[in-house]
Amino acid sequence: MCGIFGYTGKRKPAGILLEGLKKLEYRGYDSCGIALNTGQRLAVFKTKGPVSKLAGILRDRKIPACCCGIAHTRWATHGTPTRINAHPHLDCWKKLALVHNGIIENFAGIKKKIASEHKIKSSTDTEIIAHLIGGFLRKGLSKKRAILKTAAVLRGSFALGILFSDEPGVIWGVKKESPLMAGLGRGECFLSSDSVAMLSWTKKAVYLKDEEVARINPQGIEVFSFRGKKVFPQPVVIKQEAFSTEKGRFQHFMLKEIFEQPKVSAGILSRYAGRSEVWFGKGFLSRQAANKIRRIFIVACGTAYHAGFSSKYLFERIKGLSVEADVSSEFRYRKVDFNRNDLVIAISQSGETADTLAAVNFAKQQGCRILAVCNVENSALTRAADFVVYTLAGPEIGVASTKAFTAQMFCLYLIYLYIARARGSIVKEQETVFLAKAKKIPLLQNKILTQSLNQVRSIARQFSQYGCFLFLGRGINFPLALEGALKLKEISYIPAEGYAAGEMKHGPIALIDEYRAVVCLLSSDSLFEKMVSNMQEIKARKGKVLAITDRPSAVPKGLADKVIALPKISPEFFPLLASLPLQLFAYFVAKNLGRAIDKPRNLAKSVTVE
Ligand code: G6P
Repeated sequence: MCGIFGYTGKRKPAGILLEGLKKLEYRGYDSCGIALNTGQRLAVFKTKGPVSKLAGILRDRKIPACCCGIAHTRWATHGTPTRINAHPHLDCWKKLALVHNGIIENFAGIKKKIASEHKIKSSTDTEIIAHLIGGFLRKGLSKKRAILKTAAVLRGSFALGILFSDEPGVIWGVKKESPLMAGLGRGECFLSSDSVAMLSWTKKAVYLKDEEVARINPQGIEVFSFRGKKVFPQPVVIKQEAFSTEKGRFQHFMLKEIFEQPKVSAGILSRYAGRSEVWFGKGFLSRQAANKIRRIFIVACGTAYHAGFSSKYLFERIKGLSVEADVSSEFRYRKVDFNRNDLVIAISQSGETADTLAAVNFAKQQGCRILAVCNVENSALTRAADFVVYTLAGPEIGVASTKAFTAQMFCLYLIYLYIARARGSIVKEQETVFLAKAKKIPLLQNKILTQSLNQVRSIARQFSQYGCFLFLGRGINFPLALEGALKLKEISYIPAEGYAAGEMKHGPIALIDEYRAVVCLLSSDSLFEKMVSNMQEIKARKGKVLAITDRPSAVPKGLADKVIALPKISPEFFPLLASLPLQLFAYFVAKNLGRAIDKPRNLAKSVTVE
């Protein structure tokens, strides 16, 4: 949600800022802007719309010679996406320009207080930060003191990038509960909310900690705590990603990321699965601790919630355990008598989702232990957790989550195996058999992608005309139905509902006629016949049926308009395969409808507001 980028050094800042901003655009893309320090003044360029539009504006204007700059891409929270609300924001005296990620919870009160002294132009919470700092400077405070005093007044989360007109070549960064880092190059430095944006220029970075302020110039960085004390952080080498952050031969990041899934699955297996047992490293939940768990609460949002919900069907097989899955935004309102033997499994691609972080804080206060399943190292979630399993999916840029979803499920399955074995719920031979099946997944995923790409493309062409979709599954395929529907509606904007197939007759059946389509998920288990009966009910009402199954020959003739056949697999692993055609289906339907696939309207990749 929103991205910050800054540059100071010997090169021309504008081009570098635009390039960095493009890499961050997946985080928010309703408006953007940059501020450049010319040595005498701050030049600000902003626009509603994508970074490409800002690039066009800069091409058409004469850009003044400058020494450093900050840039921002926005996902609106306070105030609609307009040029005025876009960052950077200036103080009244144009002494400073400021960009902000996060949310200022007490902004309304502050705004009221300062409104008579300052000319507030936008409806954002961000602008008041610029005015507060500007006000303190006016009173004679140093830049550092003005920033620290302002930080002390603000409630909420914020990562800030600040330029002062009378301090050429210097960028200030401020961090509280929203990621921010400085990149260190040779005679040049960067400020970024995500390491992805800096990788083309440097791999050396200082990750700011919460409540830290950085003063960055081309030669390096000075860091202070919010109490004003100098701190000396160790630069780290940003890990070389196994996955490129470029689109390469693919038209969209989403398609590229769908195709990365076999590699992600293989990476998970090679990190966590030995020949006959799983291993999450030293310091992970001990076998004794696993034995003491009485309840598991799975919490997550969006796609991550669906991954968690699907793993519930495995965890609840473990003797003596009760398991629940909740969306994070609801979990924190629960009045349960939690205790130390409760394990909360929090799942998040970004590790930044505000609702999930709030759920984790709530659970920690109740004494629960936290296991994070997360894709981003050093994120707020991994720092808050007692134990972490990384999903190793590499950067996910497409807003609609694909490879992170299957990676989360795969990791959760392995965590299930670990806990089940630790508690003696399964024996060694069962663990070996489970792992042997799991090890087939990368190959089978690869096979599906190569064999069914064209078929799914052509089915999607025929199905994109339908005005409404139902996705049906039973058992472990019910969460998969929810995810299939979410993927389709996120990027195609077609209304789509995921349902437990047995619930169809209790309401959604009213929707079915020849203009609606139903996607049915059928794995080879005892629920297959029941799914077939649901298909009969749909056909009797002239609905269109797309079946996805690993038992295609058992689907009675005439019941499905189209069948996508998957390789045969144990039912618990079916979601790890069937996700792929569901993602491709959503992708091609959206493509046929000419949608902005990687940046669907109104959505953001990581939602850092509650
Ligand atoms: C947003 C994204 C979803 C994602 C959800 C949770 O809503 O648009 O794709 O599933 O956040 O994100 P997380 O980073 O916590 O997995």
